[in-house]
Order: sequence, then structure tokens, then C-alpha cells
Amino acid sequence: MTVPVDHAVGQGVTEALRVRVRRGDAVAEYVVPRRANQTVLDVVTEIQRDQDPTLAYRFACRVGMCGSCGMTVNGRPRWTCRTRVAAVAPDGMLSLEPLRNLPVVKDLAVDMEPFFEKWRRAHGYFEPGENPPDDFATVEPDSPARQEVDAGIECINCGVCYAACDVVTWNPDYLGPAALNRAWTLVNDVRDQDRDGRLAAVAGDAGCHSCHSHMSCTEHCPKGLSPTFSIAGLKRETGKAALRRFWRRG
Ligand code: SF4
Ligand code: FES
Repeated sequence: MTVPVDHAVGQGVTEALRVRVRRGDAVAEYVVPRRANQTVLDVVTEIQRDQDPTLAYRFACRVGMCGSCGMTVNGRPRWTCRTRVAAVAPDGMLSLEPLRNLPVVKDLAVDMEPFFEKWRRAHGYFEPGENPPDDFATVEPDSPARQEVDAGIECINCGVCYAACDVVTWNPDYLGPAALNRAWTLVNDVRDQDRDGRLAAVAGDAGCHSCHSHMSCTEHCPKGLSPTFSIAGLKRETGKAALRRFWRRG
């Protein structure tokens, strides 16, 4: 559906934004007014509310916390609620597609299930053991293990790094940067009781050693995290675990 520029531009708005949206096998075109401080999510919402209520997309918090608004914006995966149009579409053209490497539910909404299934496969959940202490366990904020994962625990599960990862595209079985980053935070959690199981889970064919260190995840993460750094840590620790097993057998 295409709306004429004159119709789309309202009072006090002098410019129009041309928006191309991938909708299955087709591309729909829209025109919306450019507004001050407009985000990409604002644009999608305006299209859905004023022009085409059938357009499907996902968001929740609008403030960079929930991780649900990821889309491909002008060819690059981004969180759309914190992406300003002015920063990514200086020429007034916006191309929107669903995140790469995930099945499309409809239009701009993807199915995140394969992404979270890989968190499960990487043992990306806290394991308290059979007899967790009654008291709250203490994690010293300046301990080396806590410092090692200080940034990594800020992940919001947005899937942007997963969409940016070429290794996931080549090998859909690959656990991917977010699940491995999560595993690394737990490997360094002194309260967790599944260190060996987790290292074994990420050491297989589709695990950390499949990473080619392209650094696309680190380049695209909207939180400024470095899954590449976390994966390097896992490579190191899985290597040490393999050596320990070898020497025990010898
Ligand atoms: Fe999103 Fe960054 Fe977490 Fe990847 S590591 S899921 S890009 S917050
Ligand atoms: Fe929650 Fe964008 S809507 S992170």
C-alpha cells in the first residue's frame, strides 16, 4: 500500500519518509511524515495504526529493556525502539525486514523459539545443585570471576547478534553468540553447580569452537557487549577441561 507524500505529510511536517517493508515474498511501500526524534519503531507503529492495521511486528517496553523489537533496518540488525530514523536514514529511505536467521511468523515478527532453544542447549540457566544454601550466596563485586562477566550479564536477549552472525547462517545448528555469552556468565558464577556440564554442552561441534571470530555479534550488539570475548573465554576453558580429562585418564 502506498500513500501519496502530500497525504502523509501533516501540518508542521515538511519532509516525508519512504518506507519499504518486507512482507513475506512481497515488499510494501509506505510514506510517513518525518518527525523530530522519531525512532524506527515509531515509524512502524505509525504505519500500523494509520495506514495498515494488518502489519505485524513486535515490541513491548519501547525503552531498550525487553529485547523484543529487533528488525533488519537498512540491511543491518538493530533494536528499533532505540534507533533514531535520523541516524540510519539521512536520505529519507527506510528499508525494514525481519531479523535474519530466524523463522518469520509474519511480516516483521520472527519466531524466537530456536534462539531460546539454543540457550537451553548451552545450559544457559542457573543450576543451584541439589542442596542449595539457605542463605543468600555472596558474589564479591570486585572478584576476578565477577569482573570477567560484568558486561555479559547485561544481555537483554534481543537476538540482534544472532541475526548478525554468519556462522549461524552457514550452520543453523551453531549455538550462536547470545547463548554462548550466557553460558560464559554462568561458567563464572561461583554459586552455579553445573560448570563441567555447561562446558561440555558448549564444547561440541555446534559450540564455541565453531565461532570464526568475525566479531559481527560484537559490532552489532545494541548494548555494546562482546559475545566474541565470552566465546574466547569458553574456548579457553573448554580446552583446559579437555586437558584435565586427558591427564586424569593418563
Ligand atoms: Fe542482544 Fe547483545 Fe544479548 Fe546479543 S549479546 S542478545 S545483541 S543484548
Ligand atoms: Fe523493548 Fe525495544 S521494545 S527493547
